[in-house]
Amino acid sequence: MNFLRPIAPLVTRFAKIYTAKEREFSYKNIKVRVRPGVFHPGLFISTRILLDFVSDLELEKKSFLELGAGSGIISILASKKGAIVYASDISSTAVENIRLNAEINNATISVYKSDLFENLPAMEFEYIIINPPYYKKDPINEAEYAWYCGNNHEYFTRLFDSLADHTHKSSKVFMILSEVCDIDAITQIGKDRKFEWELIQKKSVLGEKNYIYNLSIK
Ligand SMILES: C[S@@+](CC[C@H](N)C(=O)[O-])C[C@H]1O[C@@H](n2cnc3c(N)ncnc32)[C@H](O)[C@@H]1O
Repeated sequence: MNFLRPIAPLVTRFAKIYTAKEREFSYKNIKVRVRPGVFHPGLFISTRILLDFVSDLELEKKSFLELGAGSGIISILASKKGAIVYASDISSTAVENIRLNAEINNATISVYKSDLFENLPAMEFEYIIINPPYYKKDPINEAEYAWYCGNNHEYFTRLFDSLADHTHKSSKVFMILSEVCDIDAITQIGKDRKFEWELIQKKSVLGEKNYIYNLSIK
């Protein structure tokens, strides 16, 4: 077992207390408000790693979906880079928060309240970016969707059951995972559904290794 895993519950508990109040966060010239119960993009390193990663992508006129967008900061960056952006979340609070932040930052984003692809347009996206909930537990309220993927990784099973319908051969699907989650179990769920995992970035921050994968169908 990874040595960071035992402290993960303490970290999430701290995050829940800290985010009980509205907070602010900035990345370059983007400033967002983070409503209580919405995943804070600055408290954990995953969002920052994805922001740096998306900064380097060529997105002009590309369709770009952020699945589970939280505060919407990654979607706002993609929109500023010229992408045609779709942002979704299962949480109504997050959906309102994405709309608010898009307005504050003058970003054009189509925002959907959707459980995975359920209410999204039936289309194939050129880019899909996912910072998933990855702790094994059933979420018991809206805020917990930010963290928990179900006792048996149901989030990932359902994701990989529907992902192929929303991508084409040259789509890029980027997912970030951390060594604190059960990467072997999660990657196996994708592999069982014919997805290949190509590791394209490994970043260690404060002793925690984070990995960005490009997922493609075999
Ligand atoms: C780890 S947070 C990432 C938020 C944001 N993408 C970021 O990087 O800052 C995961 C997000 O996925 C959302 N989520 C969880 N399950 C979902 C589902 N089944 N469908 C859509 N969104 C979901 C959560 O509400 C949360 O906002």
